[in-house]
Amino acid sequence: MAALLMEWNPATLATGINSVDQQHQKLIDLINRLHAAMLKGRSRDEAPAILNDLADYTVMHFKHEEDIFDRIGYADSVAHKKQHADLVAQVADLQDDAKAGKLAVGMETMEFLKSWLTDHIQGADFKYIDAMKAHNIA
Ligand SMILES: [Fe+2]
Ligand SMILES: [Fe+2]
Repeated sequence: MAALLMEWNPATLATGINSVDQQHQKLIDLINRLHAAMLKGRSRDEAPAILNDLADYTVMHFKHEEDIFDRIGYADSVAHKKQHADLVAQVADLQDDAKAGKLAVGMETMEFLKSWLTDHIQGADFKYIDAMKAHNIA
């Protein structure tokens, strides 16, 4: 079996909020699926469907976080939602290119998606951990 692009590593990626951590693992799985398709030389066929799934799941996950922000009156909500909107637009661009047959998935795309997720989790998501835990969000 080919090496995974990303692995779920609780030490560097876990927020400790269960619902969020499960969804982040699913996002990692989807990114790994695209990587596996690339390694098999099948990304031209498989990228459109995988990126559709990634885009849909990302929208669902961001809504999950944003609903919690609204419920607990999270102070950094506006900036965080803005980041989400930018990240969704970036995946939508890849999705559009894949659908048009213009996306050549290589390591550049894969490293982009890896940072796309990792940087947001570590940069923005980690900031809400205390606020969510203070409201007993799991
Ligand atoms: Fe997140
Ligand atoms: Fe987020």
